Amino acid sequence: MSKLFEPVKLRDIQIRNRTVVSPMCMYSAKDGSLTDFHLVHLGRFALAGAGLVFVEATGVSPEGRITHGDSGLWSDVQIEPLKKIAAFLKAQGATAGIQLAHAGRKASCHRPWEGDGPILEKDQKPGEGPWQTYSASAIAWAAGWPTPKEMDEKDMEKVRSDFLAAAKRALTVGFDVIEMHNAHGYLLQSFLSPIANQRKDQYGGSLENRMRFPLSVAKVLRDFWPQYKPMFVRISSVDGIEGGFTIEEAVVYAKELKKLGVDVIDCSSGGQPGKMTLRAALGYQVPFARQIKHDADIQTMAVGMIVDAHQANEIVADGSADFVALAREALNDPHWFFHAEQELGQAPEDNPFTEWPIQYGHWLSKRKHTLDRLNAATVK
Ligand SMILES: Cc1cc2nc3c(=O)[nH]c(=O)nc-3n(C[C@H](O)[C@H](O)[C@H](O)COP(=O)(O)O)c2cc1C
Repeated sequence: MSKLFEPVKLRDIQIRNRTVVSPMCMYSAKDGSLTDFHLVHLGRFALAGAGLVFVEATGVSPEGRITHGDSGLWSDVQIEPLKKIAAFLKAQGATAGIQLAHAGRKASCHRPWEGDGPILEKDQKPGEGPWQTYSASAIAWAAGWPTPKEMDEKDMEKVRSDFLAAAKRALTVGFDVIEMHNAHGYLLQSFLSPIANQRKDQYGGSLENRMRFPLSVAKVLRDFWPQYKPMFVRISSVDGIEGGFTIEEAVVYAKELKKLGVDVIDCSSGGQPGKMTLRAALGYQVPFARQIKHDADIQTMAVGMIVDAHQANEIVADGSADFVALAREALNDPHWFFHAEQELGQAPEDNPFTEWPIQYGHWLSKRKHTLDRLNAATVK
């Protein structure tokens, strides 16, 4: 059996293999509530054999959303549609996860296909105005973006209690995994990054100070989230900008998260403005997952330009990471997981469709036999 498709147990949660659908904002929620679009979008990955499927970045408060179309879990109204999705994912054998998020100074934006930039008073759509953003320091993300409010103790307490309330709702929904979004320049990462965090108090300066607030959020979540369920934290392993957060700092941070009981570090990168020294390439973030796994002695998830079954298997087989997450490649081929199993020679040759839902597998195996027969006839 390939390492990628080996079942794995995290705390008491059995995951059918090591493949993961990475959180992906669809910017298509209605007042934070997911719709049937999301049920079908996420559900097809579960039908196609993914191990763990994450619901996209879900705002813990309205001001924590990136856009008006973001998923949210600040209200009980948002529980029901998520219940339908989580139940479906599980019924198909996948593990259901959700990423809890606060967009910080990158909030109050247009949907990507409506301009991507910040919502300005002059270009707002009816009922879709801008809102006050928050960050570690009062520094706009870029020229033309709103200046965020520098978080004070009261703001921090509110964010902690918003994350906690969202986690309580996530438990009511029935999710088995929560992930704290601590990457990509959003609120929690704005504290870690020396580029975004210019504070002079106990939350800025040294790494110990920059870690203080995000660690306090992680602690609240882990203390609440049931002991038998795992918690992931997605970090930007590096800012990838001169003077930014480094991989050595990420290792220290991962060790602190481990002490709190965090199970897996999801190793992404970037998200702060500036001249990137990091270049995207196939598997370019895998070395971060490997270093954090080995130096902090914690399980990791690799993500970023992982497109091929053999590439994905190699990442877990050579001990670089424990899980492999896909985003764009899963959109490109929602059946990637079954195709990967076949490519890795996992599936029986006479009927490679045994793992597919019976409703598909029955017909696909018949189709294969017909094609084999026709091909044999053509060769003659
Ligand atoms: C449409 C889209 C939406 C995304 N939304 C999120 C998100 O909600 N949370 C997050 O942490 N990353 C998000 N990402 C980043 C992906 O999870 C992933 O880390 C990144 O795309 C690299 O993986 P890939 O090369 O397989 O696409 C998003 C990416 C895409 C393409």
